[in-house]
Amino acid sequence: MSQEIPTIQIIDAKKYVGQTVKIGAWLRQKRGSGKIAFLQLRDGTAFFQGVVAKADVPESVFDVVKSLKQETSLYVVGEIHEDERSSFGYEIAISDVEIIGESHDYPITPKEHGTEFLFDERHLYLRHLKPFATLKIRNTLIAATYEFFNERGFTKLDSPLLTGSAPEGTTELFETDYFGEPAFLSQTGQLYAEAGAMAFGKVFTFGPTFRAEKSKTRRHLTEFWMVEPEMAFMHQEESLEIQEAYIAFLIAKVLERNEQELDILERDKDLLRSYTELPYPRVSYDDAIKLLQDNGFDVAWGVDFGSPEETFLANHFAKPVFIVNFPKAIKAFYMKRHATRDDVVISADLLAPEGYGEIIGGSERDTDYDYLKERIAAEGLNQDEYEWYLDLRKYGSVPHSGFGLGLERMVTFVTGEEHIREAIPFPRMTNRLRP
Ligand code: 4AD
Repeated sequence: MSQEIPTIQIIDAKKYVGQTVKIGAWLRQKRGSGKIAFLQLRDGTAFFQGVVAKADVPESVFDVVKSLKQETSLYVVGEIHEDERSSFGYEIAISDVEIIGESHDYPITPKEHGTEFLFDERHLYLRHLKPFATLKIRNTLIAATYEFFNERGFTKLDSPLLTGSAPEGTTELFETDYFGEPAFLSQTGQLYAEAGAMAFGKVFTFGPTFRAEKSKTRRHLTEFWMVEPEMAFMHQEESLEIQEAYIAFLIAKVLERNEQELDILERDKDLLRSYTELPYPRVSYDDAIKLLQDNGFDVAWGVDFGSPEETFLANHFAKPVFIVNFPKAIKAFYMKRHATRDDVVISADLLAPEGYGEIIGGSERDTDYDYLKERIAAEGLNQDEYEWYLDLRKYGSVPHSGFGLGLERMVTFVTGEEHIREAIPFPRMTNRLRP
């Protein structure tokens, strides 16, 4: 193959119309007749079609093309053309092909496959259209998260994954042996983020978190990624403003950078755009209960919301909605007491519309040493493990607030995917540890 031919990526095809280029790609599918072959190609940047006309290439090249199997890797050489019939807009008229890696009996054929099968083959399924689009959007959300918090003066603080504490409750812990003593896989980086906020003012942690959730739902993973900002000298209302600005920023960045992927997933872009309009409604837990009761839900004050309740509430407002000030009894020990009521705490959950559920949970943190010590004991937590955390209330304690965004919940919301397993490269669920 000639030296002067530029090697390009499919995504850049539009810059090379009328030129001969070389592309390293994989063959997704092939169809055609004895005279012409259509090769569906992908290279990790985009998907497009290669056309090989028998009359235009040496017979040896057409013979190679005829022999190609699904997922063979190859170099193709050819001229880029506009192609108005395809959604991508361009194709390559292939003049030469070089096989790089053979492929035989690729298991994911163009026919319909069951979900369990596809996730057993997840290491290969990643190559296909839907996972490609979903995980590209995940990547944008990750990049945009760093942009958002860096632009606002936050410091990224890494929290440990092996811990001795169980801030979100002791029922969902993965325990492991740490040189003879028990350790837990982190449920949240929050307590460490609070220490960080007292050192750096505004911080965020971002990493994997683990919950031994027995619940088999389309919204629960046992390993998921959480973004946890924590801000010193900040009350809850200002934290809510950051939360909604963050969500709107993430959606705007995906609309800006992932048009191709949103089209692959057939996500309604106008609807997504409507979620960038702020503010989001703030509804008290009390009012939410009333609203649910008035609409036929059998719920009493004090219960946590299930999926039908969350779906109803967010759909009712047709945008993400904050439910604020939950009952103390169903929330974590660190949440700040309400100024005038003993039964609720200064907390907020952000519920996404269209049935995507809770995407953010957060609160103002209580600052009182004795109260927190009492709450830790009342929750049955091991007090020794929280001594360092209580130190934060002894040495220059300040009002502070924070929240946690579940990355995979956000991915499902933005992409419109039905199930959270699609939102992470290799999902971990009660029934899945492999591949
Ligand atoms: O509401 P959660 O449990 O809050 C915390 O962990 C706090 N420490 C956060 C903080 O204030 N710093 O979880 C926060 C978010 C949820 O809103 C949800 O999006 C996600 O994490 N999440 C899960 N995502 C997938 N699978 C699970 N099992 C999840 N559990 C929570």
